[in-house]
Parts: sequence; C-alpha cells; structure tokens
Amino acid sequence: MEGHEIETIDSWASSEDDFHPIQAAFKAEHGLQCGFCTPAMMLTAKEFLSRNPAPSEEEIRQALSGNICRCTGYVFIVAAVKAAAETMRGG
Ligand code: FES
Repeated sequence: MEGHEIETIDSWASSEDDFHPIQAAFKAEHGLQCGFCTPAMMLTAKEFLSRNPAPSEEEIRQALSGNICRCTGYVFIVAAVKAAAETMRGG
C-alpha cells in the first residue's frame, strides 16, 4: 500500500450526527450486517456511486457482487445503496 491512501468508513463520521449518506442509508434501510461485510459493502458502494450516481437495482447487485455474505439476503443492502444514491443526488 506504500504510496497509496487507505480509506475506512471510520473516517467518514465521528458520530451518527454526521454520518455519510451511505452510512445513514444503511441504518435507515436496515442494511447493516456484521462488522466484516458492512464496511466493505459501504466502501464498495461509495466508489461505485462515484462512477454511477443513478444505478439500477441490477447494477447495484453487480457492483456489490464481490462482497460475499451468506448470512442473509441482499434486499436491504441494495435498498440502502439505492437510497444513498438518491440522497447523494440531492433527492
Ligand atoms: S453478516 Fe457479514 S458476512 Fe454475513
């Protein structure tokens, strides 16, 4: 990682009062899972939404496909990314 910047979701907010829109959406849409997959889902979502601010559900599912969680379904996680996209577009 020499010469590269490392970003974690811990750098996004110091409290719930200043949550990043992705963090707020995961909380509101019940997309929070465990401490392993949730940060990865959020970081993936942030990078993905920077390239595609108005994604379809299928595009969201494709973007998240590298983050594997078999503990539950992805319905709430996809809803969270969709809600975050809308918020980040100013909706
Ligand atoms: S809830 Fe995180 S890996 Fe399944």
